[in-house]
Amino acid sequence: MLFKRVKPLDQILATAEKKSLKRQLGPIQLTLLGVGAIIGTGIFVLTAEAGQKAGPGMMVAFVIAAVVCALAALAYAELASMIPVAGSAYTYTYGVLGEGLAWMVGWALVLEYAIAAGAVSVGWSGYMNGLLARSGLGLPTLLRTGPFDGGTFNLFAFLIALVITFLLVIGTSKSAKVNALLVTIKIAALTAFIFLTIPAVKDANFTPFVPNGWGSPLGGIGVLGAAASIFFAYVGFDAVSTAAEETKNPNRNIPIGLIGSLAVCTIFYLLVGYGAVGAVGSQPMLGADGLALRPGTPEMAAACTGSQALVCSKDALAHVLVLINHSTMGYLVGLAAALALPSVILMMIYGQTRIFFTMSRDGLLPNRLSKVHPRFHTPHVLTLITGVCVSFFGALFPVGVLADITNSGTLFAFMMVSVGVLILRVKQPERHRPFRTPMAWLVCPLAVLGCLLLFLNLSLYTIELFFGWAVVGLAVYFLYGYRKSHLANGTEPS
Ligand code: ALA
Repeated sequence: MLFKRVKPLDQILATAEKKSLKRQLGPIQLTLLGVGAIIGTGIFVLTAEAGQKAGPGMMVAFVIAAVVCALAALAYAELASMIPVAGSAYTYTYGVLGEGLAWMVGWALVLEYAIAAGAVSVGWSGYMNGLLARSGLGLPTLLRTGPFDGGTFNLFAFLIALVITFLLVIGTSKSAKVNALLVTIKIAALTAFIFLTIPAVKDANFTPFVPNGWGSPLGGIGVLGAAASIFFAYVGFDAVSTAAEETKNPNRNIPIGLIGSLAVCTIFYLLVGYGAVGAVGSQPMLGADGLALRPGTPEMAAACTGSQALVCSKDALAHVLVLINHSTMGYLVGLAAALALPSVILMMIYGQTRIFFTMSRDGLLPNRLSKVHPRFHTPHVLTLITGVCVSFFGALFPVGVLADITNSGTLFAFMMVSVGVLILRVKQPERHRPFRTPMAWLVCPLAVLGCLLLFLNLSLYTIELFFGWAVVGLAVYFLYGYRKSHLANGTEPS
């Protein structure tokens, strides 16, 4: 039954024409949009967690995650160019594998976008707290982190998500100029970091290279565990495809935006990872049993009290620069992160609302939700609901936990997209493909295997949460979407 209701691709394209958003984005804006969505908490903050999980071997983790993303991006680009409408993996799955699985993908994308927005809010809060603390100000410890991370309520994470929500409601996402400026700031900060740390690299900091081993399934530790977490640093390139309906000449520009933004980010990450590890080292904090502590736990928070280790830092890149006596630059990199990370939160909440928008246009969520504001022309109801949830995620949970949950949903969506490319090649070989995944019969299966490998190296806790979320999703589908679906009822979106 899950495979039955396949929405004809021509119908998908026609529906999008009816209730459509204005096409205004070109290839450069789109690549910038991608880089704006990609570079964020992953590199600025999770570098510390990756160090705790893998030690210096986190550099390999960056490479593994990049390879998996590149494979998935090649698959994404084919579907995004063929089906250039909002909704990303959800829409593609609807057109290839049917409504049930599409719903599950859309449901998993909530993890990708909304939870990721929470994670980036926590990352931003780490930098704000770091900046204030270095200026001799700062919030009380209880308001700096959530309850699992040595605090009570992460106030800055809560507030930033609310502010971004407000901006999105009044239509701020349209400012491509501001996005371009913020991307420039991020790239400048990472470039400065690379130039300052690489001369300080010491060989000794690379041994032992893999103190926690390579990892084991469901272990969430070791190099593969770190790769599964640092995958977060690349999440967001697919946000480019969620803007497909707002893109000029999407058939050409979407693939450029997807692959271009991923390539730019990968180069920066590898250099930043090398500089951070080489300059100050990244050996993990060990518990009484001699094993590496888990990031985002009270035990780790206790072991890190008063420690200057990179793996304990909440504003990793600024911290590294301070440790190697570039305090002013550390301050400026912190400032750059504080200025730029909100744009990632914005992209994530934006992506989430556009996916919900598409799902409600299909009748799988109540139509009331997709109401567009008469003055601001934004889906304000969806934006407000999403934004308030994101604020609480950020206020209560540690960044690494949120990032891992994000990754579980994203990896699932990527697997579905990669499978979808192959199914569509068989079912509709004659359909025009403005972008063809090169060597699809090799690339797509490898993308699925890569995603599966990373998924299985998330912690058991994350995987349990993922399946719990999926069960809730199925229940919601059968109680609502299954009956109300426009496709099943032959109704039209109003
Ligand atoms: N890739 C985005 C980040 O690292 C989600 O913040």
